[in-house]
Amino acid sequence: MKKAIYPGSFDPITNGHLDIIKRAAGMFDELYVGILINSAKNPLFSMEERVSMIEEVLAEYPNIKVVSFDGLLVDYCKAQNISVIIRGLRAVTDFDYELQIAQTNRVMDPNIDTIFLATSLEYSYLSSSIVKEISAYGGDISKTVPKTIEKRVHQKRSSQILQRPTASETP
Ligand code: PNS
Repeated sequence: MKKAIYPGSFDPITNGHLDIIKRAAGMFDELYVGILINSAKNPLFSMEERVSMIEEVLAEYPNIKVVSFDGLLVDYCKAQNISVIIRGLRAVTDFDYELQIAQTNRVMDPNIDTIFLATSLEYSYLSSSIVKEISAYGGDISKTVPKTIEKRVHQKRSSQILQRPTASETP
């Protein structure tokens, strides 16, 4: 049984991620969507929220498993008998970072390969950061994420606005 993992922060999952996930799921017996902590990022959604959001949008795909974990990706792959890591490449600007991660992972475990899938043209501009940026200014994110995710992003933004201190409360 050939297993692959598509790892990422998915904060939140976008239509671009879903495009890669659906294509990769057709290539392997089992595809894990691995939600990991990227130490360089400060997430909008908690790990639990991201898991439930992704499970919801991928519920109809029997060979996709949504998982989250701490630690090194290669250690998880080894423990689960996963030999392929999938990453999407949107543009040449992604390449340096992605190549460095792929090579680092390969140095740590030469039995694990990274396969890059070229992002479909219509999603080449898209990232989770772009979704958060548009929504922070009240813009329309309906073309960037599924309906259920759009709702969750709006809910999160509203709860943040409610929690923000008013001018009279700030010292
Ligand atoms: O969606 P992202 O934030 O670009 O994904 C990056 C991610 C989470 C795949 C990467 O940060 C990662 O693999 N983190 C787990 C820790 C690890 O294994 N680091 C070694 C590779 S540099």
